Amino acid sequence: MLIAQISDTHILARASDHPAAQLRSDCLRACVADINRQQPDAVIFTGDTVQHGRPEEYAQLLELLAPLQAPLYLVPGNRDDNIALRESLGDQSGLPRDGGFLHYVVEDHAFRLVALDSTSPGERKGVFCPERQAWLEKVLSDQPNRPTLLFIHHPPFDVSDHYVGGYRRPEEAVALSDLVGRHPQVVALLCGHVHWPVECRWAGRPARIMPSIAVDLRKGIDETEARERPIYMLHRLSAEAGLVSEAKTVDAAA
Ligand SMILES: [Fe+2]
Repeated sequence: MLIAQISDTHILARASDHPAAQLRSDCLRACVADINRQQPDAVIFTGDTVQHGRPEEYAQLLELLAPLQAPLYLVPGNRDDNIALRESLGDQSGLPRDGGFLHYVVEDHAFRLVALDSTSPGERKGVFCPERQAWLEKVLSDQPNRPTLLFIHHPPFDVSDHYVGGYRRPEEAVALSDLVGRHPQVVALLCGHVHWPVECRWAGRPARIMPSIAVDLRKGIDETEARERPIYMLHRLSAEAGLVSEAKTVDAAA
């Protein structure tokens, strides 16, 4: 199964006078065009889709995502407003129509996709409250033999000095690791939020953080090599090799 991942686009409204407004739209537009050329089975969007959670930003986001040919599955980031997000992209993004959380399961592909909502209004850090713990436990217990990919905005592990204590309560990050550790069918975890590319092992399986699509916000990238071109991720999932990830650098004018 081939999955494209995009994250942390921080899109601004078309009428915004922010100096990076046009740049961020151009970055996402170029990635969408290249993703269509790769013909993935699915596109995963790990949150912080817009900068302020405003309807006019979601209108711009919707326009930029419209050309995507593969099904889109989205989880919110701390920059998103879940009500405005659901109203704008509810039909195109796998998001549930009801309920307080924007988490869900996709059963349509070779790998089961589990989208976990780690956001809470006004909270910058990740949240994995008892209600979400019960939901994830049930979801994973329902299909213990089906290979599953988990994706969340907030990584539940520290990244050297750049990202430490990313969850509201440290015990919630531990609970997430313990819970997933009891379900070996979860083959990998994909995250955003840190804007920095990271590959590591977490809860006994591979985890990835992808850099921000917005080139003015990303960190940990050699800009001499990337020349300020946007980068998205292509993940190949197979029973034989597990997760094989590739960073795709795109010409912004593409
Ligand atoms: Fe972000």
